[in-house]
Amino acid sequence: MPFQSHFQTDLVIKCCSPHRVFPTILLIEIVINSSGTGQVFSITGCPRRLFELEVHVMKVSGNTILITGGATGIGFALAEAFVDLGNKVVICGRRRNKLLAAKKKNPQLEIRVCDVSRSASRTALVRSMAQRFPSLNILVNNAGIQRPFDFSKGTRDLHQADQEIATNLVAPIHLSALLLPLLRKQSQAAIVNISSGLGFTPLAAVPVYCATKAAIHSLSLSLRHQLSNTRVCVFEIVPPMVATELAGRRQRPEEDEYIMSSDAVAKEIVRAIETETYEVPVGAAVNLYEKRDQMFSAINE
Ligand SMILES: NC(=O)c1ccc[n+]([C@@H]2O[C@H](COP(=O)([O-])OP(=O)(O)OC[C@H]3O[C@@H](n4cnc5c(N)ncnc54)[C@H](OP(=O)(O)O)[C@@H]3O)[C@@H](O)[C@H]2O)c1
Repeated sequence: MPFQSHFQTDLVIKCCSPHRVFPTILLIEIVINSSGTGQVFSITGCPRRLFELEVHVMKVSGNTILITGGATGIGFALAEAFVDLGNKVVICGRRRNKLLAAKKKNPQLEIRVCDVSRSASRTALVRSMAQRFPSLNILVNNAGIQRPFDFSKGTRDLHQADQEIATNLVAPIHLSALLLPLLRKQSQAAIVNISSGLGFTPLAAVPVYCATKAAIHSLSLSLRHQLSNTRVCVFEIVPPMVATELAGRRQRPEEDEYIMSSDAVAKEIVRAIETETYEVPVGAAVNLYEKRDQMFSAINE
């Protein structure tokens, strides 16, 4: 039976009647309820309620969400947006004082001290999620750091590169793998990776950061492909320059028109999930994403 759907996720249709559907053109109406299940009705001919329907559409409320690096910047704006939408949100980070300040601003947040760059800390976080939040269905790999490194100036700052790779790349790989068994138990689930426009057009002053973000893009493609037969969707959000601690030191007033607020980025992330748009360059990152050669010269003058 020809069937067209704008949903990109699984669409499972079970026939309610033992009779075969005869070859005809049917106008159908699909009614999906808030739990993500629904029914198919015939508008023309045939008895009503043709099929039972199971549609796995991501919802933006009623989820249990872990946001790494959620006490500040984009992560915190997203945590607040998700709480407002009626989700249970757990945030983690290294600095207890930042987590407590976030909780003071938004008492509904659950907080966990965790250094995602360390294996033991990740394992403890995953164990605590499984025990305390077994309904976890969205992981947001957001924690990130950015450090300058100049290959022409020797190896003095090389240790910072290891920390950047551990935080920006190793942590999302391990957390995704460790939390997948829990995510796969849920009726709908997602991994949301925060990459960067600089993963598409590098800013040479922060070369390792850009390389980790390019790797996050590549990882998101493979993960999405490998999980395409599961109920876990993989999103990649590509922010532009955002007014946060991370980019603070390198932001210049002349770049103001390109700088986005964390709240605006959070809105785009929610919209991406709601509309099941899996790869989303945001704001000025569209240029970095689409016009790489031209933008490389422009940002590396
Ligand atoms: N700002 C931008 O211009 C921009 C542009 C594109 C993409 N992004 C990406 O957006 C994400 C969020 O960054 P942001 O801009 O919102 O900066 P931010 O305010 O500095 O947020 C980064 C968060 O990550 C946490 N974090 C860092 N290392 C961690 C670790 N080892 N373990 C656990 N948490 C850690 C930090 O908390 P603690 O220090 O307390 O651990 C902080 O809360 C990052 O992945 C970043 O690369 C940012």
